[in-house]
Amino acid sequence: MAGIDLELCLQTGQRLAREAGVMIKDAFKKKKNVMLKSSPVDLVTETDQAVEKFIFSELRKTFSDHRFIGEESVAAGEKVELTDAPTWIIDPVDGTMNFVHSFPFVCVSIGLTVNKEPVVGVIYNPILDHMYHARKGCGAFLNDERISASGETDLSKALVIGEMGTSPIPEKMDCVFHNAQALVAKAHGFRSCGSCALDMCLVASGAADCYHEAGIHVWDIAAGALLLTEAGAVVMDTAGGPFDLLSRRVLCASSQPLGEQVASMLRQYQPPRD
Ligand code: IPD
Repeated sequence: MAGIDLELCLQTGQRLAREAGVMIKDAFKKKKNVMLKSSPVDLVTETDQAVEKFIFSELRKTFSDHRFIGEESVAAGEKVELTDAPTWIIDPVDGTMNFVHSFPFVCVSIGLTVNKEPVVGVIYNPILDHMYHARKGCGAFLNDERISASGETDLSKALVIGEMGTSPIPEKMDCVFHNAQALVAKAHGFRSCGSCALDMCLVASGAADCYHEAGIHVWDIAAGALLLTEAGAVVMDTAGGPFDLLSRRVLCASSQPLGEQVASMLRQYQPPRD
């Protein structure tokens, strides 16, 4: 990572997240122009597109030699190419379905990878004014206060999150419902919040103990994965193996034993890789 000023990257990410947050908050209560992407529940609005364009154009002014991956650029036809080069990975509005309904669980997610590893993560919910940030080796923070995972190991005491996702194909939904039923029976509580990045923040801050999903994309998880490990949580594949940013599967947990137990219970679904 020689030659990369990670503190400058973090500060720039936080500044742009706050500026993007103003755009999201301004549009939040207004009527949205909603367009469909891969399915009737995979949505995009003018705000998603405007926020991504804004963040990328600002980042390019300071980091012209870096690479960029963004949800809406990929939707518009760009390929996901994760190399060892410094790469900014953006979800301009994570929780677009929530945003469309003015449900206050929305955020902008900005991650930076170097050598394919997340090194900076910023996730900002402008409606609740929750700013999460992490820099590799320096801890994870919510509104500048250090956060840590709960450390819970016992599923019967754990609050677990699972999501419906945005690709409602029958094979996948069978897994989603089977897994929800299994977890509802064994966990203390079960939730769906509608934003992958914020679900990861909830586990990182100890507000929830586990989150799993198959079908997410690299832009949903790049920033959150760093927040989790910096907060002492574990991030793995949904089957319990090593976490892979491009595999479209994630399981995060407050402890290794809890993660392994949940992984062993899940019916596995493998979407095409990013
Ligand atoms: C979606 C949200 C949702 C998750 C989906 C994601 P988007 O992101 O994070 O909670 O279940 O898998 O695609 O489309 O709102 O950016």
